[in-house]
Amino acid sequence: MGEQVAILGAGVMGETLLSGLLRAGWTAADVVITERRPERAAELAAKYGVRVMENDAAVAEADTVVLVVKPQDIAGLLEEIAGSIRPSALIVCIAAGITTQFVEDRLPPDVAVVRVMPNTPALVDEGMAAISPGKHCDSEHLARARALLEATGKVVQVPEYHQDAITAISGSGPAYIFYVVEAMIEAGVLLGLPRSTSTELVVQTVYGAAAMLKETGEHPTVLREQVSSPAGTTMAALRQLDDHKVRAAFLTAMEAARDRSRELSSGSA
Ligand SMILES: NC(=O)c1ccc[n+]([C@@H]2O[C@H](COP(=O)([O-])OP(=O)(O)OC[C@H]3O[C@@H](n4cnc5c(N)ncnc54)[C@H](OP(=O)(O)O)[C@@H]3O)[C@@H](O)[C@H]2O)c1
Repeated sequence: MGEQVAILGAGVMGETLLSGLLRAGWTAADVVITERRPERAAELAAKYGVRVMENDAAVAEADTVVLVVKPQDIAGLLEEIAGSIRPSALIVCIAAGITTQFVEDRLPPDVAVVRVMPNTPALVDEGMAAISPGKHCDSEHLARARALLEATGKVVQVPEYHQDAITAISGSGPAYIFYVVEAMIEAGVLLGLPRSTSTELVVQTVYGAAAMLKETGEHPTVLREQVSSPAGTTMAALRQLDDHKVRAAFLTAMEAARDRSRELSSGSA
């Protein structure tokens, strides 16, 4: 058996991580899950062949413990497992707004904690996760956390004080893109296209634009200029976006998301 991973809380994100690990080469024998709802646990055990255990038993044998419950359930879960954690275990916490210190304060001294902000494209192995080390993490812990998260996409390491900004950019980011996609589909319908055609055009255009950014490595300004001929159609549209202060709205929107993340982390809302 390889490194033993316990996933505590097998909801949407827990299942995403579990299926990613199995696709990336972890075996079902390496992973155990815990879950509050027995019917959900049974469903995942049948689907993936992994073991289901109680929280304390699962952490007692785990090298890496991943906390994937809602932020409001973290304190209760830590109380349940604090007595069973192996001193050498790594705790990976995926709950939005929960600081490494919050977790460290509720565990035995010196347990290593890594905080993660994932995003939902992890569901299709195109996630963007930002990891931050707690006080007792060394490079080996960080490498383990990175390998775990790389099963569902890309990983960057940032100091923890950037986590609110990360939440605003990549955590909430897919929603902004879906919002733009919705608006462009509506525009296609306004221009007389059948809704299904408009949807197909917009989805492939977003996918293609993202692939160009990633594969060419060009700055977005360069790519935009390539589609903006003098006095042409693209310039006519971009001028309207500028007139409506869309760029400024994006800046203000993400500042608001960052501020909201700060409020939620400090428990003031
Ligand atoms: N950045 C992002 O895009 C993003 C996306 C998703 C999630 N997240 C983070 O990931 C975490 C999980 O989110 P989710 O959407 O996967 O939530 P979810 O679907 O509600 O999954 C959490 C699961 O854990 C179970 N649970 C709660 N307390 C437990 C305990 N003490 N022991 C065992 N199982 C327990 C819950 O059971 P019940 O149903 O009975 O409560 C639920 O099935 C959250 O903290 C969230 O902040 C981030």
